[in-house]
Amino acid sequence: MKIIPADQFTPEELTDAYNETRMDYLVPMPMNVARFQEYTRVYDINMSCSCVVYDAEAELVLGLGMLGVRADRGWITRLGVLPYGRRLGTGSTIMSGLLAQSENLGVKTVWLEVIKGNTPAHQLFYKFGFQDVRELVVARRPPNPDINQAALDRIKRVTSLNHEDAIILLSHRKERPNWLNETETFQNARNLSALLVELHNGGRGWVTYHAGLLQLTRLVVEVTVGDPCEVTESVLSIMHQRHKRQDTIAENFCDDGIWQGFQKVGYFESFRRVEMKREM
Ligand SMILES: CC(C)(COP(=O)(O)OP(=O)(O)OC[C@H]1O[C@@H](n2cnc3c(N)ncnc32)[C@H](O)[C@@H]1OP(=O)(O)O)[C@@H](O)C(=O)NCCC(=O)NCCS
Repeated sequence: MKIIPADQFTPEELTDAYNETRMDYLVPMPMNVARFQEYTRVYDINMSCSCVVYDAEAELVLGLGMLGVRADRGWITRLGVLPYGRRLGTGSTIMSGLLAQSENLGVKTVWLEVIKGNTPAHQLFYKFGFQDVRELVVARRPPNPDINQAALDRIKRVTSLNHEDAIILLSHRKERPNWLNETETFQNARNLSALLVELHNGGRGWVTYHAGLLQLTRLVVEVTVGDPCEVTESVLSIMHQRHKRQDTIAENFCDDGIWQGFQKVGYFESFRRVEMKREM
């Protein structure tokens, strides 16, 4: 059993290995090569510091784990071991490798997320000194042309902004975003849109998002003035009025007043992640 840097493998080999390790996963998340490459680019994955455990005799990838690096922060992701090779120390070998790489790079804090209810992974992360930080919601909304008129009537003014302005809004957020929603992610992504919304009662908020043909993704909402639930409902209502046909996915936001606003416009919880961190 050898531990090899991920950049020694092709994207095809890594995608296949990743999918094999996730055959029995709690939430199915298969990837194709294009998505895998997009993922590593957008989330700043350092391939030479990511680890693959390889059985040279069987010529088989037993498991892998990836390390994202931004300034003095690290992020562990895509960790997985083949189902029949588990509980033999492979997951621990990968974690030790990723933490050693983090230390070499001078990373101060390593972050990760685990799906709530994934006990094997959660236990593994506790064993390696990670602590729970907060719960994050992943939510979806099917296309639905019925928009609450009252939420639209509360709106005084809507300003549409381009990608560059969306990045400026994102870089001024009050709350610390999760790795997936950090400003670096959106700088790496393309074609963000933003709507800045003012209500008659003085409430203010904005949404940034990527509008694909079939899906709205990369959603972030912030309420700058007013009731978080009410402002979010209006902000999302105007966005969905302009994008009636798309399905929407919103990832890794906190369970707060903003989430209540999401629910008012038809979002439902898909699953939750637990954000964890370890100081180095
Ligand atoms: C999580 C995962 C990577 C662990 O890999 P592994 O090779 O089985 O891990 P190890 O053999 O090194 O186990 C290390 C520790 O993890 C924990 N652990 C692993 N499997 C466990 C299980 N089924 N139940 C409870 N704890 C478990 C234990 O603390 C274990 O230490 P111990 O054996 O001293 O009790 C593996 O189960 C997996 O690939 N799961 C599917 C993908 C996944 O969940 N990835 C993580 C996404 S965040």
